[in-house]
Amino acid sequence: MAEKILITGGAGFIGSHVVRLFVGAYPQAQIFNLDKLTYAGNLENLRDLEQARNYHFTKADITDAEQMNALFAEHGFDAVVHLAAESHVDRSILNPLEFITTNIIGTVNLLNAARASWAGQFEGRRFYHVSTDEVYGSLGAEGLFTEETAYDPRSPYSASKASSDHLVRAYFHTYGLPVVLSNCSNNYGPNQFPEKLIPLIINNIKHKKPLPVYGQGLNVRDWLYVEDHAKAIRLVFEGGRLGQTYNIGGMNEWRNIDLVRLVCRVMDGKLGRAEGESEALISYVKDRAGHDLRYAIDASKIRHELGWTPEHDFESGIRKTIDWYLANEAWLDDILSGDYQRYYEEQYVRR
Ligand code: NAD
Ligand code: TYD
Repeated sequence: MAEKILITGGAGFIGSHVVRLFVGAYPQAQIFNLDKLTYAGNLENLRDLEQARNYHFTKADITDAEQMNALFAEHGFDAVVHLAAESHVDRSILNPLEFITTNIIGTVNLLNAARASWAGQFEGRRFYHVSTDEVYGSLGAEGLFTEETAYDPRSPYSASKASSDHLVRAYFHTYGLPVVLSNCSNNYGPNQFPEKLIPLIINNIKHKKPLPVYGQGLNVRDWLYVEDHAKAIRLVFEGGRLGQTYNIGGMNEWRNIDLVRLVCRVMDGKLGRAEGESEALISYVKDRAGHDLRYAIDASKIRHELGWTPEHDFESGIRKTIDWYLANEAWLDDILSGDYQRYYEEQYVRR
C-alpha cells in the first residue's frame, strides 16, 4: 500500500471528495493535496480536514516542471492521483491555450517528475490519471462509450484531456511507468463550481434569474453523483490493472431540458414556490459551438472487474445536491464575486 499519496486538484469539485475519502480510508498513509487554487479551487471544500493528522496541502502549479520535480524529491510520493485540470468546456472555447498548458503540459510535468523520482523502481508505485468520457466525442441516439471506443474529441477541453490520456499511456508503453486511467461521465453534487449546468441552474432558480438552456435543450448527458465517482476512483486506485482504462458512468441519461425541469420542480417544492414558477425562468440561448449531442458510458468493465456500482439514484442525489447548495449560501456567495461575474457576462450576455 502507498504511504505518500499525491492528489492533484484536490481543492476542486471532484478532487475534494477524493481527498476526503482517501484521508478517511488510508489513516496510515499521508495524503498530499497539490492545487494551484485557480478560480475553481477552494480550500473551503476541505475545511473539515484541516486538523487531520494525515492531510497536507501544498499550493503549487503543475505547469511548473521544476516545482513538480522539487516536490517529488522533497516528499517521495509513491502514488499519484491526478485530477488537476481546467475543466469547463465553455471556458475552453473562450481560451483554449490555458487548457493546453494545464491539461497537457501539466500532465507531462507530473509524468516526468514521477518517472525521475521512481527511477525504474516501480514496485508498489502507481500513477493514476483521472479523465473524462468527452474524449470519445459525441454519440447519436444509440450506443455507449466502451474502453475500446476510438477517441474523437471535439472541444479544446476534450482534445486537451485526450492528449493527456495518450501521453499517460505513452509513458506506460515507452518507460514502463505504472499507470492506470479512468474516464468518467458528468458528475454532480456538493462543491461543484456554479459555471456547470446543475449548480448554475440551482443558483439561478434561487435568485429567480433566467435559466440558460443551450440550443433546444436536447443534448444528453449521463449524470453520476460525485461520491460514487470518488468510490470508483478508490477501487481503480487499489485494484485497477496497470496500463488499463476503466470507464465510469451513472447509467443515468437525461436530456438537458428534462433535467432543468426536474430541478425546477424539486426547488419549487423546497422553496415553497408555486408549481411552474421556476420553469417560467427557462430561457433558450444560443447553442454552444460544436456542442456534443450525447454522452453515455458502458461501465461493465469496472463493474465486473472491481465490483463498482453507483449507490445514489438520481432522485436522491439531486435532492441531496440541492439541499447542500441551499444550506451553503456563504460558499456560493463567496464564489459568485468578481471573476465569476465577468465570466458570466462574457458567456451569457455579450453574444
Ligand atoms: P474543477 O475545475 O472543479 O477542479 C480542478 C482543480 O484543479 C481546481 O482545484 C484547480 O485549482 C486545480 N488546478 C487547475 N489548474 C491547476 C494547475 N495548473 N496546477 C495545480 N492545480 C490546478 O474540476 P473537476 O470537475 O473537479 O474535475 C477534476 C478532474 O476530473 C479533471 O481532470 C476533469 O477533467 C475530470 N472529470 C471531470 C468530470 C466532471 O463532470 N466534472 C467528469 C469526468 C472527469
Ligand atoms: P456542463 O455542466 O458544462 O458539462 P459538459 O459540457 O462537460 O457536459 O454542461 C452540461 C450540459 O448542459 C451540456 O450539454 C451543455 C448544457 N448547458 C446548458 O444548456 N446551459 C448552461 O448554462 C450550461 C453551463 C450548460
